Amino acid sequence: MHPPIVHRLTLEHPQGRSELRIGDGALAALEELVPWVAGRMLFVLSTPRLDRLHGGALDPLRAAARQSVELSVEDGEGAKTLAHAGRLWQEMVVAGGKRDSRLVTFGGGTVSDLGGFVAGCFLRGISYAQVPTTLLAQVDAAIGGKTGIDLVAGKNTVGLFHHPDWVISDTRLLATLPLAERRSGLVEVVKMAVSLDLDLLLEVEAGLDRLLAAILAPVVAGAAAAKCAVVTADPSEGDHRRVLNFGHTLGHALEAALGFRHLRHGEAVAYGLLFALRLSRRCGLPATVAVRVRDLLRRLDLPPLPALDIGELLRLLQRDKKATEAGLVWVLLGDLGRPEFVALDLGQVTQELERFLADPFVDV
Ligand SMILES: NC(=O)c1ccc[n+]([C@@H]2O[C@H](COP(=O)([O-])OP(=O)(O)OC[C@H]3O[C@@H](n4cnc5c(N)ncnc54)[C@H](O)[C@@H]3O)[C@@H](O)[C@H]2O)c1
Ligand SMILES: [Zn+2]
Repeated sequence: MHPPIVHRLTLEHPQGRSELRIGDGALAALEELVPWVAGRMLFVLSTPRLDRLHGGALDPLRAAARQSVELSVEDGEGAKTLAHAGRLWQEMVVAGGKRDSRLVTFGGGTVSDLGGFVAGCFLRGISYAQVPTTLLAQVDAAIGGKTGIDLVAGKNTVGLFHHPDWVISDTRLLATLPLAERRSGLVEVVKMAVSLDLDLLLEVEAGLDRLLAAILAPVVAGAAAAKCAVVTADPSEGDHRRVLNFGHTLGHALEAALGFRHLRHGEAVAYGLLFALRLSRRCGLPATVAVRVRDLLRRLDLPPLPALDIGELLRLLQRDKKATEAGLVWVLLGDLGRPEFVALDLGQVTQELERFLADPFVDV
């Protein structure tokens, strides 16, 4: 195996700074965390699947801590509940956790969201590190300090901003990730590339087929840097950070309409991007750009969009957090690298949605 190539990024935020290490072999950077855990109790939050696949990956950190305590949750979205958080807090108190204890998450976005929330509330907040193991978490969920859990009433409805001290993203961990999960993460990369970073777009266009087989560190580092830039410009999620919601307005509605089954988050966002491209075209986006992005998304070979009830989708869209009196505010594309916010009335959207549901890939 060749020596690690590690990209270093620093994300400044109101609570301080997060240090990011990203790359093929980036786990070697755990060495830098030794002073961070030395003499302290370390909680490691993971899942049975991650334990089975990559169980020993955090051993250097465990060895450096005064004591390490394993915390475990089920794989997948079901882990993000108040019941799991409550059980983990109990286990942490019983184990003797203190204000200066440390927590490390080791898993996908569900583990990073839950772990950040658990760390953020435990004894009013302890420091933590993210070691994300899915592409989606490496480029998105583990960066930016948004943490949370789901309620029956809605996804991500309870949470807080709590930035990790460290984010260590080793792309070697992604070798075991199923193709569908890689594809789902790549959609978020495409989203950031198209709206924020044209060099990254060229890289993804040139290498997409290879990327579906094996995720390349420069692409993860590029997307993570794009996310960091947005978070730095808007740390407390005012308006600007909403550019990251490109493709998510319809994406979220699709996920909810399908009961969070049938499509993964990234797959739903891919359809959300196609719809946003269509709306962008009506607002002046050049056809060449829309077709170029559409063709890139087509190469991802998405699962087909299941049959959906348009009335239900429209109801869900109106519940979107960004809905205002003027109508729903969409993140659209003025041009490559130029996202813009546009309020559209429901009539316009309904018409486009009907055509979109008939064939999401035509008319962009
Ligand atoms: N906080 C944020 O800013 C933010 C941003 C985007 C998404 N999210 C959240 O992220 C979550 C989705 O994250 P996700 O897509 O990573 O899902 P996930 O955490 O459920 O992981 C997907 C699946 O991959 C498996 N897995 C993880 N790492 C693996 C590996 N290396 N090899 C093999 N299998 C592996 C997991 O066990 C799981 O079954 C959602 O809850 C979403 O709300 C948060
Ligand atoms: Zn997303």
